Amino acid sequence: MKMKKKFRIVMLSSLLVTSSFYVLPGRVFEPGIAVATAENRQSKAAFDQKVIARISTEKMYKDAYFLSETIGPRVTGTEEEKYTAKFIKERLLSYGYEVEVQEFGIPDKTIGHLRTANGDEVLVTIPAGSAATADEGLAARLYDAGLGYPTDFNTESAGKIALILRGELTFQQKVENAYAAGAVAVLIYNNIDQASPLNPSIGENAPIPVGGITKLSGEALREEVLLKTETVTLNVKHIGNMTSQNIIAKRSPKKSGKHDILHVSAHYDSVPFAPGASDNASGTAVALEIARVLKSYPIEKELRFAFVGAEEIGLVGSRYYVSQLTADEIGRSIGNFNMDMVGTSWENATAIYMNTVDGKSNLVSQTAAETAARIATPSKLVLYQRGSSDHVSFHDVGIAAVNFIRREPGTANLEPYYHSPQDTIEHVSRERLKEAGNLVGSSVYNLIGK
Ligand code: BES
Ligand code: ZN
Repeated sequence: MKMKKKFRIVMLSSLLVTSSFYVLPGRVFEPGIAVATAENRQSKAAFDQKVIARISTEKMYKDAYFLSETIGPRVTGTEEEKYTAKFIKERLLSYGYEVEVQEFGIPDKTIGHLRTANGDEVLVTIPAGSAATADEGLAARLYDAGLGYPTDFNTESAGKIALILRGELTFQQKVENAYAAGAVAVLIYNNIDQASPLNPSIGENAPIPVGGITKLSGEALREEVLLKTETVTLNVKHIGNMTSQNIIAKRSPKKSGKHDILHVSAHYDSVPFAPGASDNASGTAVALEIARVLKSYPIEKELRFAFVGAEEIGLVGSRYYVSQLTADEIGRSIGNFNMDMVGTSWENATAIYMNTVDGKSNLVSQTAAETAARIATPSKLVLYQRGSSDHVSFHDVGIAAVNFIRREPGTANLEPYYHSPQDTIEHVSRERLKEAGNLVGSSVYNLIGK
């Protein structure tokens, strides 16, 4: 309040100097349209500066580093995801927010690992629908079953783990042929070079355990078959009763009563094997920094941060978050700024996309576009129709929502590290974190600030 008065006085003098209107001193607090517009523009710029001056590039980078390199992959339901949630919770408490941990159940999962006879770990993905092994795992010799045609099997395949190359047949057909030939499990290896192990879709209830592995692993194992040193141990188990969690931080205006609500969100989980530096330690770090900067500025609307888990298994965390809002809270919600993949250093990703579910602009995209023009955001902003992130959950309950994401303009290309073990801090740009922090932080503050 105090701040604002002081600011108006500064404004008055600058208007008297620069405006072509003659402003009567007595009229300045009942300004005409021209004066009001100028004041508005200036106060917005002042709000921007209060944010931009404080958003710390190093703090964001450090947090993105901690999440992606120190913690590493933060797969839904794992200890790493829970540890990340705890880290976020403690940080928000240290900023003085009211923090809530919202726990929810997630679907059962099938997980596993694969070891060679000499104890080397081979990266493996167990697809949904795989059968489990005994607790101690299944130790058996490998059988090179080519592409997995019925003719690729013979009496030697019985009792062995079939090693099958991806291609020509469906994954399900390969599994069926292996099972029919008496194989006790199947390992399918990729025919293209990808760093993450293959995740073959095999339908429901496969009769035997199935794992997907990389091209590199498959070729190495096939060599071992030829060398006849081919014993491997495959371990597959189903786990149930798993949970994930959202960390929610709130700040309300000093004046009690019902206020409009603005939601800022970012998912902190990652896909398996991916450190998720861009997707989405970047958005998490930027949202944490906005929370720090806005922790004590005067506000006239309620500010909520939703750090959501379980995004990568189908927006489960954000769906749960919106499901826990009352109809009254949804009615008071003015928007959602969702940040997902805002920090990639991939040189082609020169634009900031504002993805909306319907491709139309809304309060959030309009506010961001105005902010970008005022603060001269270096990157082009592109309004685009796309789901695939947590803004969908907000949109679906009627809240104006935008997913901020860096993309290569005019193409469907994604950064080459997307959902891979190469999604590391090395491919995160400090400048782009700062650009996102400035843009979203200033937009948020302009919507809720006082
Ligand atoms: N960060 C991505 C979303 C994304 C990627 C949006 C590229 C726009 C362009 C997100 O974490 C993700 O991977 N989403 C899934 C879908 C989701 C419903 C599981 C996807 O896009 O495959
Ligand atoms: Zn993702």
